[in-house]
Amino acid sequence: MLRRLHKDQPDSFAFTPANLAWAEAQITKYPEGRQASAIIPLLWRAQEQYGWLTRPAIEYVSDMLGMAYIRGLEVASFSFMFQLQPVGSVAHIQICGTTSCMICGAEDLMEVCKEKIAAKPHELSADGKFSWEEVECLGSCSNAPMAQIGKDYYEDLTKVRMGEIIDELAAGDVPLPGPQNGRYASEPLNGLSSLVEYDSGETQYNASVQLASDIGDTVKRIDGTEVPLTAPWQGKIGSVAKSATKPVTAKKAAPRVEKVKDNEKQ
Ligand code: FES
Repeated sequence: MLRRLHKDQPDSFAFTPANLAWAEAQITKYPEGRQASAIIPLLWRAQEQYGWLTRPAIEYVSDMLGMAYIRGLEVASFSFMFQLQPVGSVAHIQICGTTSCMICGAEDLMEVCKEKIAAKPHELSADGKFSWEEVECLGSCSNAPMAQIGKDYYEDLTKVRMGEIIDELAAGDVPLPGPQNGRYASEPLNGLSSLVEYDSGETQYNASVQLASDIGDTVKRIDGTEVPLTAPWQGKIGSVAKSATKPVTAKKAAPRVEKVKDNEKQ
């Protein structure tokens, strides 16, 4: 699938102070000369801050990491986790359209998105709250058909349930992620038929659904206030961002210097 930069771009991008502190801490996780390894978390944070990944954001992050812009764009345009165009302010719905999900009804789910959101993928709904797209396998094939919404998976979907989920999100609720047909995880619908000794039989939800329920940030965009910034190797222990709104300009990383071996000096 062709992934291009959006035709309309903002003039600039800068991390908020909270996000800049977080980004600088991430960069120090990598050895000198390997700062480019931080590209995915930094692009992700830029996307969380702005809502989608703009060209100025890709260039800003590339500058921070001492990378050519084309290298940053290569990463941003490769993965479905990066949205290169505006997305719904409430949720961007990613319907899996690969084999298991397609066999089990992914086209029905996309039909609901066309009816309730927009006729074409990557178009915003009339109220700007939603957008949708078809993506490749999200690795939840035994719970097909499924969709990723925000940070969580909604599995074992039906056409009716997909519509209800969109309506609930539009009303300001966050439906519980995970299997939508009563399954605990990916066991047979009528219960375990083997490995029964491993049936926990005690928890209400499986671990990822429990986490989604506890944290409750399925469609919330990360703004630096969620957890303390811990970078003990930098002497930063547990500082929580107070303000995540004021942008600052990042310092550019020093240009990478290639070492010249003694026998190559002339
Ligand atoms: S085919 Fe849909 S999650 Fe794998």
